[in-house]
Amino acid sequence: MAEELKTVRLVIVGEVDHGKSTLVGRLLYDTNSLAEGKLEALEAISKKRGRAIEWAFALDAFQAERDQGITIDTTTVWFNTKRRQFVLVDAPGHHEFVRNMITGAAESDAALLLIDAGEGIKPQTRRHAMLLYLLGVRQLVVLVNKLDLIDFSEREFARLSGEAQALLAEVGLKANAVIPAAARDGDNIANRSERMAWYAGPTLLESLDGFDPAPTSEALPFRFPVQDTYRVGEKRIYAGRIESGKVAVGDMVLVSPVNRQTRVRSIEVFGAAAPVQHAHAGQSVGLTLDDQVFADRGALFSHVEQAPIETNEIKARIFWLPKSPLVVGQALRMRIGTSEVPAQITEIVTRIRPAGLESGAKSIEQNDLADVRLRLGEVIAIDNYLDLPATGRFALVDISGVVGGGVADLHGVPDQRRLRTQAGTNLTAVAHSVPKDVRNLRNGHRGLVIWLTGLSGAGKSTLGMALERRLFERGYQTYVLDGDNVRRGLNSDLTFSADDRTENIRRVAEVAALFADGGTIAITAFISPFRAGREHARKAAGETNFAEIYVKASLAACEARDPKGLYVKARKGEIRDFTGISADYEEPENADLVVDTEAHDFEQCLEQLFEYVVRQTKV
Ligand code: ADX
Repeated sequence: MAEELKTVRLVIVGEVDHGKSTLVGRLLYDTNSLAEGKLEALEAISKKRGRAIEWAFALDAFQAERDQGITIDTTTVWFNTKRRQFVLVDAPGHHEFVRNMITGAAESDAALLLIDAGEGIKPQTRRHAMLLYLLGVRQLVVLVNKLDLIDFSEREFARLSGEAQALLAEVGLKANAVIPAAARDGDNIANRSERMAWYAGPTLLESLDGFDPAPTSEALPFRFPVQDTYRVGEKRIYAGRIESGKVAVGDMVLVSPVNRQTRVRSIEVFGAAAPVQHAHAGQSVGLTLDDQVFADRGALFSHVEQAPIETNEIKARIFWLPKSPLVVGQALRMRIGTSEVPAQITEIVTRIRPAGLESGAKSIEQNDLADVRLRLGEVIAIDNYLDLPATGRFALVDISGVVGGGVADLHGVPDQRRLRTQAGTNLTAVAHSVPKDVRNLRNGHRGLVIWLTGLSGAGKSTLGMALERRLFERGYQTYVLDGDNVRRGLNSDLTFSADDRTENIRRVAEVAALFADGGTIAITAFISPFRAGREHARKAAGETNFAEIYVKASLAACEARDPKGLYVKARKGEIRDFTGISADYEEPENADLVVDTEAHDFEQCLEQLFEYVVRQTKV
């Protein structure tokens, strides 16, 4: 018995609609998927017109059936290859596209990008590539069609193929294959072309055979956005639709963003006679929990081990619809799952226009795509779109309704859950026997955390150490906590991943706070790239005991200095996640002091810092 074919949802995009229908018509023919009598009809038409078969008519016929509502499944075209069954997903226009994207209706497993050899690569191709990215398509084949128009030239094809790959790389995509073809005549569709003997790669069908269906949403981690909570007597029922994964009675669940854990007591399926033991993606259910948790609409349930990220800052690729441009700082709201929070763009990192990528833009025009940073009014639970599409995509709305959509890229975004979790319970602070003002009187100054932040090579350690020396000479209690030093001891278990950096800073923040509480001027020299971490450090020490000092120097300057030779290594790819090169640095927005080591010489910077500390630590 033949093994059951796996189904792959395929979207075909390309500039020339005609080329698309011809290709699909030919694919149906080559895979024996044309309905009974259709081939004969096509042959008859071509005979009458004295021309070659017009494969596009095969689709026109579909279209006609669709219009008349004859076929049962009106939106899809099916065909089988040896190993797979394909269903074509419509690639709709811009507005519909965004709606379909946000609801997941346009989700596809794979894509075919069609390029007309006669026309070459057009600006629109870049937009198509971007849309594919937004659809979450990760398997892709490029078909360069109508090779007859360029005389089956290997050289010309190589040029187009190189251009196509470069363009895809720009937007973060990679093609499994780039195939030269002439769809009308069937060259390299099902059969190897004799007119392109130089081509050694796969035919289109061979290449499609290599595509896999995306994992079913049931196989993904459990996500349950709460739509409503109901009280029935003592019971509280959390109602919603399971977006991904599975859940069972007795499972330990984590409720975000309140950060509470408890067990699932029961699962009730609407309309079912009795509660069930398990439920899975796609089902609408009501859950009850062992402990009462305050979780209203917008809360997200997950399993503890595979939790979403909690953050109020994200990176995203967004799509903007209205005529009026979107500007940095504009007030928007972000709708994700069942929650809606205030949002604003803090930075447009890259604007993607048909003509190319632009950095440093201040606005996003109608139908532009852009990679941006977003600040949210509240901490939310969110997933990386590529890992968990349903809880990683969102709509942007304003008073007029949906104005755009986006997908989250959480790579390098630190999880703030740890910063927000107060692990200790049943702890009581014990009073010290030496009052703080007595300690300060004897020292002649009060304690303070001098938090130096900046890129590697900006001068944090050098300044910190010199400041320590100068203060000590003047009779101050002071000590430097330095990144490279602390990472060899206290934090030797930590890497440079976003999460580990967060933990690095969390520990240092607590240690520095203790030093300052003991009356010392604690100088810290850590890149501390994330705002959230620095804010946490401020909280740990207390507002009045903390000063954020931005040791400022441009990436170019730091790279030119490269005191430890690390930038060179990072550029060569020998160091992963290197700040400024392959990991983010979030510049301070409200630093208490900016020390610009590029604009001023070392002595000036040291003097500026020293004076600041003296002023701030007077008793
Ligand atoms: S932080 O980002 O977690 O605050 P930290 O200040 O402790 O970093 O450590 C930075 C120092 O570690 C740098 O000055 C550099 O010497 C070294 N280092 C090694 N790998 C990296 C990396 N991938 N990114 C940044 N610094 C690195």
